[in-house]
Amino acid sequence: MSRPTRRIAVLGGTGFVGTALVSRLATAGHELRVLTRDPSNGRSFAVLPTVRMLQTDVHDESALRTAFTDCDTVVNLVGILNEKGFSGAGFTRAHAELTRKTVAAAAASGVSRLLHMSALGAAVDGPSFYLQSKGVAEGHVRAAPGSIAWTIFRPSVIFGAGDSFMNRFAGLLRLSRGVIPLARAGARFAPIWVDDVVTAFSYALEDRLPEAAMGHTALPGGSSIGQSYDLCGPEVFTLAELVQLAGEMSGTRARVFPLPDAAAKLQARLMDFVPGKPFSTDNYRSLTVDNVCRDPGCERLGIRPASLRAVGPRYLAR
Ligand SMILES: NC(=O)c1ccc[n+]([C@@H]2O[C@H](COP(=O)([O-])OP(=O)(O)OC[C@H]3O[C@@H](n4cnc5c(N)ncnc54)[C@H](OP(=O)(O)O)[C@@H]3O)[C@@H](O)[C@H]2O)c1
Repeated sequence: MSRPTRRIAVLGGTGFVGTALVSRLATAGHELRVLTRDPSNGRSFAVLPTVRMLQTDVHDESALRTAFTDCDTVVNLVGILNEKGFSGAGFTRAHAELTRKTVAAAAASGVSRLLHMSALGAAVDGPSFYLQSKGVAEGHVRAAPGSIAWTIFRPSVIFGAGDSFMNRFAGLLRLSRGVIPLARAGARFAPIWVDDVVTAFSYALEDRLPEAAMGHTALPGGSSIGQSYDLCGPEVFTLAELVQLAGEMSGTRARVFPLPDAAAKLQARLMDFVPGKPFSTDNYRSLTVDNVCRDPGCERLGIRPASLRAVGPRYLAR
């Protein structure tokens, strides 16, 4: 039985996860409207006939209402790892405020389905502005009017071709001839493949498994509506182990020097002032909590996630 085509508005659709998700949903036959600050970011979608770029000020609620007209679904993927300044206002705007406006505009436009990207560890009392603002955003989604069926996704770090995590370490290792003084080297992660994250969104969107999977169609954990899913890959690594792996897979022998905490904080303070903030005090604070799942979100969605060891060499090898 084929499912009806959906009209989906995507915020943050031009990024790493968005590019993979938009391509998957377009291939499944859905019509997509990608809201962006700069349509040239979506050049790779030109070959997808059901994808339309829409230049939009996503921080303007009335512009969102207009952009959502005739859409039944909204996907919000907007996220930043660093802000201009240090007050937390940039995180509040990009995560909490934008989500509040998205929910309000979706309700006013008659949107019935909302898929929201959060992050593992998001909590209003989290240690960093990143995690706090993601936690506040989740609260706005949970408080959505009953007309909106929502689902929240909370991934650990996401890997895959074009990621900014493993690729960044591979690049840094090449530049530094393998030597890395590393803050929070013992922080733990359970990296998940971008394709598995995309699968989680698409199973939740359909609210069932694909026809042939596992001989039945219901999601193992029941309906995804009103649910939140932690998304983790099958292996847990420390940050130091991930840097070692990035080295192995990209062909540079890594020599990782874990920094004592005082030196790690100082490194973050200094990097706060490097253009583009490759590392920051807020990133340091996010790393003070482990990024591993307690909730078996992938299992509840019927997904057996791929391992970094299997997928990484395919895109990190030079
Ligand atoms: N990548 C990971 O490891 C990871 C892990 C956990 C959670 N997440 C979450 O997953 C989501 C997608 O991550 P990603 O890695 O795909 O991010 P990304 O590649 O940096 O893309 C972010 C997207 O958000 C939009 N955006 C960025 N800053 C914005 C701002 N200030 N105002 C409005 N829009 C803005 C951009 O759209 P335009 O430039 O086209 O407007 C871009 O398409 C984020 O919410 C992130 O927090 C990611």
